[in-house]
Amino acid sequence: MSAGDGVTGQATVSSLDDSQIRELIRRFSLHSKETQNNAHELFAEMRKSCPVAHSEEHGGFYALSRYQDVYDAAHKPETFSSFPVTIPPFGNPTPMIPIEADPPHHRNYRTLVGRQFSPKSVASIEPYMREMVAKIIDDLAGSTEADLAKEVAVPLPLRAILELYLGVPEKDWDMLKDQFLYMLQPDPEASDEENQERSMEAGLNCTKYFAEMLEDRRVNGYGTDLISDLDQAEVDGERLEDDEIFGFCLVLVPAGFDTTASVLSRLLLMFAEQPELRSQLEAIVDDPDKLDLAVEELVRYIPPQPGVARNVTEKCTFAGEELDEGDRLLLLWPSANRDPEEFPNPDEIVLDRQPNRHLGFGSGIHRCLGAHLARLELKVFLQEFLRRVPRYHVTPGQEAVWHTGNTWGVKKLPVTFEAWSAN
Ligand code: HEM
Repeated sequence: MSAGDGVTGQATVSSLDDSQIRELIRRFSLHSKETQNNAHELFAEMRKSCPVAHSEEHGGFYALSRYQDVYDAAHKPETFSSFPVTIPPFGNPTPMIPIEADPPHHRNYRTLVGRQFSPKSVASIEPYMREMVAKIIDDLAGSTEADLAKEVAVPLPLRAILELYLGVPEKDWDMLKDQFLYMLQPDPEASDEENQERSMEAGLNCTKYFAEMLEDRRVNGYGTDLISDLDQAEVDGERLEDDEIFGFCLVLVPAGFDTTASVLSRLLLMFAEQPELRSQLEAIVDDPDKLDLAVEELVRYIPPQPGVARNVTEKCTFAGEELDEGDRLLLLWPSANRDPEEFPNPDEIVLDRQPNRHLGFGSGIHRCLGAHLARLELKVFLQEFLRRVPRYHVTPGQEAVWHTGNTWGVKKLPVTFEAWSAN
């Protein structure tokens, strides 16, 4: 079974016996290739026989796999704190804002940035988004081969957040991307300590960069970017501390590009492996209502975040399991999204699925702030890409390379195109 089969969950024939599955659950980790390669087989077993499964990795934690349990846990922020939000933790001493903030502070932070990410505000950037996608495709046009992960999936969401929201100059995009990838995609071969050290160093580099941007705005005048907005904003009559502004940026950039990049890269791989999916999408891409439904279904089927962590704040019983203060939970969105108790035919892509209460964007107070932006990116991408880019296959002799970590996606996608049309 290839990594892609296990992650997208299309393989139907099990390659593992019961004791191998139990062993993989005991060693479950979002950073492990073994976990990723067998993900949907493990999720199915966890939902069936151990919905609060215990993994011994990263100091030990419980993984929630059933839709209802994941949903309920996401709606108990008092009992299940979001700090730290990853397993293992990044190691930051104070919570990242807003994703690691708990009630009551969390609400203030959300209010601060709610306007910039509202449906109306996001809709207003559609023309820029379309130009951006067109430029990415123009750069690709006519080539025989390309790495679609590097040349399409990453640049689109990266430019959207860095250029449209933060006003970061183009010369710095790659440097910031590399720093953030150190944090988001830890080396599966390195120890937790080594990865934590690398991620802390990258975090400090990015903080320094945003500190210089903030200083520049204060000296040379505010613009229309988010850093300018945050520096002038007030929460309960108080201005944000500089560290809070940097904290926002440290979350917004990776949350804004790595998630969408992972969905795009996986979708681009699926177009090569499942041409019929591409045909189905081509048939509806000009119908906005059908396209909206299709985008939701794609996020259900290939949610980029395999899971987020919660920290138990008090002794309690949850889903039949006794939990102690300090226990760690992992909420497995992709498993919840394939729970047959919630979704009929969960392993099938049903582009007009309704209802579709998927958890790909999370749920509860931390529900994705950038969901409207992500939806717009995906819609504009599908429209422009499917109209202009010819069909392609993975280049013979090469293969797609997946990454593990706090998002799961394809980091290398070497493809060979069929002929480009003249226009
Ligand atoms: C397809 C793309 C995306 C997916 C599937 C996705 C998914 C998620 C999920 C599952 C959460 C919940 C985390 C939790 O419960 O702890 C979340 C939170 C968040 N997302 Fe996204 N995301 C995407 C794109 C974006 C974009 C484009 C942005 C741009 C700003 C963004 C910003 C955030 C932020 C700031 C949070 C934290 C919200 C809070 O704590 O209140 N995301 N996202």
